[in-house]
Amino acid sequence: MDERVAEAPILRLRRPEDAAEIRDLMVRVYPPPHGPEAIWSTENLLRHLSHFPEGQLVVEAGRTLVGTATTHRVPLEAALAPHTWSEITGRGSLSTHDPEGDALYGVNIAVDRDWQGRGVGRLMYQARIDLARRLGCRAFVAGARIPGYHRVAEAMSPETYVEAVATGRIFDPTLSKQLRIGFQVRGVLRDYAPDVETMGHAALIVLTL
Ligand SMILES: CC(C)(COP(=O)(O)OP(=O)(O)OC[C@H]1O[C@@H](n2cnc3c(N)ncnc32)[C@H](O)[C@@H]1OP(=O)(O)O)[C@@H](O)C(=O)NCCC(=O)NCCS
Repeated sequence: MDERVAEAPILRLRRPEDAAEIRDLMVRVYPPPHGPEAIWSTENLLRHLSHFPEGQLVVEAGRTLVGTATTHRVPLEAALAPHTWSEITGRGSLSTHDPEGDALYGVNIAVDRDWQGRGVGRLMYQARIDLARRLGCRAFVAGARIPGYHRVAEAMSPETYVEAVATGRIFDPTLSKQLRIGFQVRGVLRDYAPDVETMGHAALIVLTL
């Protein structure tokens, strides 16, 4: 078979037996100096499936997982208010999932480094947008990583950086792609989650449905 056909990325729902491969994928996406907090625990991966199975996606290419996305539902008001990743996700467990929540919340998304920039992220974002519409959510909200920020942190605040990315003056490896998907920046979430690249900060991004 043509290698490109055999390796064409395929989106599907996550299964319990994917946990080990998802953890391997996260290790590849977040090598040191990222700490162990960047990697899902198997317990939390299984909890996600019990809370909201239809919000958990993976992409496989050949026999390898190259993408993973975790999503839950929360009240839109909570998603738009200042929050940390830990607060809104129940420390990553999705115990905060609200089956009636009018916002779909992007808890996590990661694409294997070799596959970034090849449409795998778009595939997962589009599936999440379609899911949010099917569920009747009013918006898709996330705290967007700004991994380029640490390079300029001495020269500008996270607010100035996010504004520069939003207006296209700076390319950020994550936030710029999310803006391409159709998200809009609504502000900065300071001290959102520990992260050596973002210095802990994130952009509050919203895609109104
Ligand atoms: C952010 C991430 C999930 C995006 O996934 P991806 O597979 O790289 O994204 P895609 O290739 O689907 O690109 C998404 C959009 O950005 C655009 N894009 C991708 N790379 C780009 C680049 N280098 N320059 C400009 N635009 C680019 C794409 O063209 C696409 O828009 P389009 O569909 O309108 O053409 C991925 O880069 C990643 O895992 N990063 C590390 C972990 C992370 O930061 N996760 C986010 C947590 S908030």
